[in-house]
Amino acid sequence: VKHLLGIKDLTPGDIELIFETADEFKDVINRPIKKVPSLRDVTVANVFFENSTRTKLSFELAEKRLSADIINFSSSNSSVKKGETLLDTVNNILSMKVDMIVMRHASPGAPHFLSKHIKANIVNAGDGTHEHPTQALLDTFSIRQRLGGVAGKKVAIIGDILHSRVALSNIFALQKLGAEVMVCGPITLLPKHIATLGVKVELNVRKALEWCDVANVLRIQLERQQIKYFPSLREYSLYYGINKKLLDSLNKEIVIMHPGPINRGVELSSDVADSDHAIILDQVENGVAIRMAVLYLLASLSKN
Ligand code: CP
Repeated sequence: VKHLLGIKDLTPGDIELIFETADEFKDVINRPIKKVPSLRDVTVANVFFENSTRTKLSFELAEKRLSADIINFSSSNSSVKKGETLLDTVNNILSMKVDMIVMRHASPGAPHFLSKHIKANIVNAGDGTHEHPTQALLDTFSIRQRLGGVAGKKVAIIGDILHSRVALSNIFALQKLGAEVMVCGPITLLPKHIATLGVKVELNVRKALEWCDVANVLRIQLERQQIKYFPSLREYSLYYGINKKLLDSLNKEIVIMHPGPINRGVELSSDVADSDHAIILDQVENGVAIRMAVLYLLASLSKN
């Protein structure tokens, strides 16, 4: 049984195969009939223990485009509220003849734990502050689409790195594909050992923007903060907020990315988020083809 638990486990060749498969699925979803029968015999459960808009809908659409049967589980209106465990919940879902689990969970390592106890394929749709592999795949795929490749590009990941699963998965994916990576944010929102991952570290957002070709801008994740961090949203916006005036003063073109949801007026102003420099909605569009590729490849590997 194969899983997608994190980018850390993938080779550059695995990522290229996912990209090439996603290229083909992009052609499919641009056709008048947007479906292929590839997963006609597969049942997928989307098991979400945390809120989601993009990831959940994108996986659901990817599964429908591949003709899979799907069921959706949301912990907030389930028997988890009555005390049922993660493993009991998933085993009950699997007993209904489900083949694949797409799971989002607030606890780092939850899908890795599950992978040791169940036989179905697992796709990690975000585990706490750990990894969000399909987000990093769609992000790097979107850089490849916009700039013609990822190798040699300078990518700054700017924001709340400490609480971000998107940051870690992006660092792994970008490095595997040959990009140079910088992280930038307030010192209080950078993990202590971040430099050991081989990334540049910059505290000044202007210097990060002067250096990079691509800025992947992250939001402050207040929901993951156990203690009240400095800076506040107002302070963050003042010192790290990216707006048109700042970008115009650099006299260079930068591709602006954001995984969503955006806190408009905090990390990004609307005149940047909605500008031609931003590929934020391209990222969302590419998420469907990337997730089709991941599901298709996992199902194919499991058959062989
Ligand atoms: N990018 C992302 O994971 O968004 P959602 O939380 O809405 O799925």
